Amino acid sequence: MEEEADNDEKRSGTSRQMTTISQHDFGFSESAQTNEAFSISIMENIEEEYGMFVWPCSTVLAEYVWQQRSFFTGKSVLELGAGTSLPGLVAAKVGSNVTLTDDSSRVEVLENMRRVCHLNKLNCKIMGITWGEWDLPIFDLQPSIILGADVLYDSKDFDNLFTTVTFLLQNTPGSVFITTYHNRSGHHLIEYLMVKWSLKCTKLLDAFSFMPSSKSSTLTGNIQLVEITLDDQQ
Ligand SMILES: C[S@@+](CC[C@H](N)C(=O)[O-])C[C@H]1O[C@@H](n2cnc3c(N)ncnc32)[C@H](O)[C@@H]1O
Repeated sequence: MEEEADNDEKRSGTSRQMTTISQHDFGFSESAQTNEAFSISIMENIEEEYGMFVWPCSTVLAEYVWQQRSFFTGKSVLELGAGTSLPGLVAAKVGSNVTLTDDSSRVEVLENMRRVCHLNKLNCKIMGITWGEWDLPIFDLQPSIILGADVLYDSKDFDNLFTTVTFLLQNTPGSVFITTYHNRSGHHLIEYLMVKWSLKCTKLLDAFSFMPSSKSSTLTGNIQLVEITLDDQQ
């Protein structure tokens, strides 16, 4: 028993040591710095799983939310697979009503989301939503904007993800899913998914074209930023 407690202590000690706080600035690098500029602090833990790290797709999507802030102000926003939640936190900062979600079974990720909201003094709703699962709270959600950064990375999850996304898009007419993903397999994958789920995908911007150089210099890969809606023509 004692040995087990020791091991727990060692494990959580290691985990604490690997926790860092990163700072993400918005509006500071613009030529005429706006008085709306702010920073978001994120607790990350590189030893933990995917949801405890700010992935490049999240940096790109968060910057997009900041630059399009007038579109986000006053909107109901839900982030799927939010992990460290940078895009959702930026949306909250610019005046959206935000719900952050991640896999219901990833308790430490959901707990970290609570901590980063507290750290940044932001009041977001936090919920477990596992893609493709139908827990009761999902039926009450009517976000006009759904965000997802780097949620298209494991093909075994695509059907579950798009079941949830399509349900949410149908639940709120006129809603959009704005997502960033690494384009590793050309455009065929997204085209296939759009046809399969009767969705329409529109490229928004070239990810590297609107990022401040201080941020784009740290990014690698081919990151796509797209908006997905129901395809009324199909
Ligand atoms: C690559 S990480 C991206 C995290 C964050 N959006 C970012 O870009 O920094 C993928 C995220 O999806 C979440 N996730 C994976 N499978 C999921 C599922 N089946 N249901 C809900 N969330 C899931 C993970 O917990 C993780 O937070």
